[in-house]
Amino acid sequence: MESVPTALPPLVDPFGRRVSYLRLSVTDRCDFRCAYCMAEDVQFLPKRDVLSLEELEQIARAFVSMGVTKIRVTGGEPLVRRNVMQLFTGLGGLLGRGLGELTVTTNGSQLERMASPLFAAGVRRVNVSLDTLKPERFRALTRRGDLSPVLAGLQAARNAGLKVKINTVALKGFNEDELEDLVLWAGAQKLDLTFIEVMPMGELPAGTRLAQFLPLTEVQARLGARFQLTPIAKDTGGPSRYWRVAETGCDIGLIAPMTENFCGSCNRVRLTCTGTLYPCLGKTSARELRPALRGEKAGTNLEAEIRSAIADKPKGHEFALHLADASRFDASRSDETCANETAIARAMHTTGG
Ligand code: GTP
Ligand code: 5AD
Ligand code: SF4
Repeated sequence: MESVPTALPPLVDPFGRRVSYLRLSVTDRCDFRCAYCMAEDVQFLPKRDVLSLEELEQIARAFVSMGVTKIRVTGGEPLVRRNVMQLFTGLGGLLGRGLGELTVTTNGSQLERMASPLFAAGVRRVNVSLDTLKPERFRALTRRGDLSPVLAGLQAARNAGLKVKINTVALKGFNEDELEDLVLWAGAQKLDLTFIEVMPMGELPAGTRLAQFLPLTEVQARLGARFQLTPIAKDTGGPSRYWRVAETGCDIGLIAPMTENFCGSCNRVRLTCTGTLYPCLGKTSARELRPALRGEKAGTNLEAEIRSAIADKPKGHEFALHLADASRFDASRSDETCANETAIARAMHTTGG
């Protein structure tokens, strides 16, 4: 087992927010092509640009030494990366030695075979993306995915002892007629469920976003008409607000980056699989950590580079601004805003959210 990371001063941004949550993307690849996330003919990164599992672990360790207590492994689809369990096992060794939680967000396609190894590595909670319970809709949205392995994966996760939270992106005209059914289904399985507002990320044809956009204020009103919802103080360290559903006894969460701004309490940063550190999802400010890992001075600048990226963490994202102005969704424009969108899109391809 490797040494305990030396405790270094914590990461605090210029607005006094402590960075305690690292979203670590391990691949840009995915076996699905969800319509709100990727173009069908997406070009994935050449493998040489992607950090090795050892490099990813080295960066994660540096973050833990600077006070990060929660690491969420993301993608693309993280569980399609070859030998990814090696990384989970390595990071699992940090649990109780600075790291409080190691978790993953997955599309569930590989969970049936990965659930037990994940638990063995120290993962206790997984978030699984699932936007519909109808097989044909699932296929249409993911453009190639099958629902049944995902359902089998969910079962395997629960059998392995993992707590599962379902992430459902609320999409206008697509799954808005299923929201109540999803709440009942999750309740029957004793799974928590979070609805997410679609965000302007991923390279999609102009206008697609607005057509997909369903404000969670509407979702909340609809669910409130059907279920008795009580706000609860639960905090998973992420951006979700939670309600207890009296009828099922389960919790539902709402993540509304567009209609609500939770940036004031932001505690997280993202690392792409190529080693780009984004202090905020919605801004282009970024730092390349790869040079600090390779070459003559390998490793010596890593802490300084991370601290300097955190010093650039903006006060908040600008998604609502984008929504307010439909013209900003026009990908053919090449003004600053569009460049910003494109950069976010590129980032998104390697962060999986
Ligand atoms: P918990 O640990 O269960 O709270 O998970 P989480 O919500 O932090 O992570 P998850 O991967 O399940 O993300 C759910 C949704 O929240 C995804 O659509 C993410 O892109 C989005 N999300 C997470 N962090 C941020 C953030 O800092 N800003 C914005 N705008 N969205 C975020
Ligand atoms: N808007 C909102 N959520 C998204 N996700 C992926 N793309 C988007 C988007 N454009 C969600 C996935 C997954 C999580 C990591 O992010 O469904 O649950
Ligand atoms: Fe893959 Fe997740 Fe993007 Fe869907 S949303 S294409 S499952 S990375």
